[in-house]
Amino acid sequence: MSTGHVELARAQQERWDSAYARRPQLHGPEPSAAAHRAAERFGAAGIDDVLELGAGHGRDALFLARQGFSVHATDFSETALDQLRHEAQREGLDDRVTAALHDVRDPLPPADATVNAVFANLLLNMAFSASELRSLVSEIHRVLCPGGVFVYAVWSTQDACSQHWKQLDDGLSVHDGFVGRFFDEDLVRELAEPWQLDELTPYDEGRRVLWRVALSKQ
Ligand SMILES: C[S@@+](CC[C@H](N)C(=O)[O-])C[C@H]1O[C@@H](n2cnc3c(N)ncnc32)[C@H](O)[C@@H]1O
Repeated sequence: MSTGHVELARAQQERWDSAYARRPQLHGPEPSAAAHRAAERFGAAGIDDVLELGAGHGRDALFLARQGFSVHATDFSETALDQLRHEAQREGLDDRVTAALHDVRDPLPPADATVNAVFANLLLNMAFSASELRSLVSEIHRVLCPGGVFVYAVWSTQDACSQHWKQLDDGLSVHDGFVGRFFDEDLVRELAEPWQLDELTPYDEGRRVLWRVALSKQ
């Protein structure tokens, strides 16, 4: 990581942490559309345990747990994870949801080929350099078992914000202190190269235009 990226990463971590502290349940109580789709996919594949990356305060982890999945949720905001743990306990889901602090710029903790499913809603479009993004996707590939499934959603270049946000280096944009990347179809396809691409769907959620992607490890 270059010094610039280390500083960017630290600033983003502080930004997210204080956003969750200022506004608990920042993303609302309802699960994302991608979580609904992931539950269908994982269920159809007979999978019952999920690693969620960038889980925030856990609206999707809790939804997946309510559907009967065991979920290990990670994020780099301890404030968000505290909210997740509190909510899991309140709902009596703490036997099915665990939460751990992890920055996905670091290698993923699981050993090779030990995870059945990975879910990440609006994480890959965060402030990663192009090489950090490729490393993250290859780490997810490494930890998944053969046949394992990765479902994610990201911001699309079809979103009007992709034109209005201030452009930074390396394809990143910034708005209100939050840095991210809008994905075009070529980028989704490039990241899918060692995988089987099972789904690539554009959709709208709230005011955002997104891609939903499902990959499986061959
Ligand atoms: C747009 S929010 C989405 C949260 C959650 N997936 C949801 O949909 O409710 C992005 C999340 O990614 C987390 N995040 C950003 N960069 C990260 C990193 N390098 N490592 C781990 N988590 C990160 C943020 O803390 C935040 O919770």
